[in-house]
Amino acid sequence: MDFKADAQRMEKIVSLCKRRGFIFQSSEIYGGLSGCWDYGPLGVELKRNLKNYWWHVIVHERDDVVGMDGSILMNRAVWKASGHEDTFTDPMVDCRSCKARLRTDQVIEKKGGRQCPNCGGRDLTEPRPFNLMFKTYVGATEDESSLTYLRPETAQAIFVQFKNILEVSRKKLPFGIAQIGKAFRNEINPRNFTFRSREFEQMELEYFCRAGEGMRLLDYWLWERLKFYENIGISREKLHARKVPDEERAFYSKGTYDIEYDFPFGRQELEGVAYRTDYDLSQHQNASGKSLEYFDEETKQRFVPHVVEPSAGVDRTVLALICEAYSEDEAPDEKGKMEMRIVLRFHPRIAPIKCAVFPLLKNKEPLVTKAKEIVALLRPHMYVFYDETGAIGRRYRRQDEIGTPFGVTVDFETLGEKDAALRDTVTLRERDSMKQERVLVKDLPGILVSRIS
Ligand code: GAP
Repeated sequence: MDFKADAQRMEKIVSLCKRRGFIFQSSEIYGGLSGCWDYGPLGVELKRNLKNYWWHVIVHERDDVVGMDGSILMNRAVWKASGHEDTFTDPMVDCRSCKARLRTDQVIEKKGGRQCPNCGGRDLTEPRPFNLMFKTYVGATEDESSLTYLRPETAQAIFVQFKNILEVSRKKLPFGIAQIGKAFRNEINPRNFTFRSREFEQMELEYFCRAGEGMRLLDYWLWERLKFYENIGISREKLHARKVPDEERAFYSKGTYDIEYDFPFGRQELEGVAYRTDYDLSQHQNASGKSLEYFDEETKQRFVPHVVEPSAGVDRTVLALICEAYSEDEAPDEKGKMEMRIVLRFHPRIAPIKCAVFPLLKNKEPLVTKAKEIVALLRPHMYVFYDETGAIGRRYRRQDEIGTPFGVTVDFETLGEKDAALRDTVTLRERDSMKQERVLVKDLPGILVSRIS
């Protein structure tokens, strides 16, 4: 591993994200807010495409999964029963010299004792638990009775709505409930750009099953999820399924995998796939006094279902997509001289803009009119972008840099001025190979739709 090259690569990615409007620091004009990020015009498209594809694959393409959208604020009793109020903590250490607040695993262990990674100081407090949930108050009074938390995961809303959803959807085991939404954790040290944030989004599926099916479904969902990442353009070589060892696993889990990705800053978790047994539903059943049992019509038995949970981070996946897509190669400039090209090689399925349309010259009215007609033709099918400013090579380069997979150029052939046989044809350029083909305007929607889906 070349640490210097990887650090430089990450710097370039962060700078591109800002320069082209993928990701900005939250509240930037006030100096930012640590661990919080805003997605700009391109970032929001990328994020939306990812979430829509996840929803499509997990909910719409299956008979055995339904969706829900729970509230961020929930009764505090939920967090007591789930165990978050007592145990959702990171051990934390303070450095008395530089006042840095550190996660215990960041402290440098040396022969002479523990050392602060910030200032090298050795005057450190003993580790103590720090709860990662953000507190808030519901209503006008600010006391214990109105205290609750911003949810640190979306999963609990699924567990507490299990019975309602079972009744309305009339699903039989095994079946799942899916949700995408915001989660909040007061991380001690947010870092690596958006990787560890304080506000982020999760895509979670709780797949309920019988006790005997848990281990098989754990493996099933691991492979489904690996396939998903490959289908959005993440290379299999950079994905790793790590079996979480017994001593690291939550006590109630019978098996957990971390799906990890080789980021430029190291191999890190993208998603957890965990067999959580009947722990969650049992906890809520016991605490609420309401039955969360399933009645099996065939065996006439009642029992609390078990659950397998694939839980993915939207922001981490977006970051992995950008890291995976970033590349530098060479392309000819206007005079045919080779120059460096930055290109985001997004899979067309998740690219923010699918196709850019260019009139060859902006001061030739028939070219502009035709290009705008093509934009109108494509718009019902995909997100398109019209650009008439600058030399055509520059315009291609601008789109390469944001990962637009296709470019359509309207030229004099399109108008039939040089050869009547070429009337109503355009050049279609592919981003990665830079190859151009001549296609009929009327065929464009069909060709592009088949290549982006
Ligand atoms: N319901 C289970 C659960 O929340 P988790 O491993 O704590 O499990 C699941 O979180 C996923 O959420 C992680 O794999 C990661 O992708 C994402 N995630 C967790 N904490 C995050 C953070 N501080 N910033 C960004 N993403 C985070």
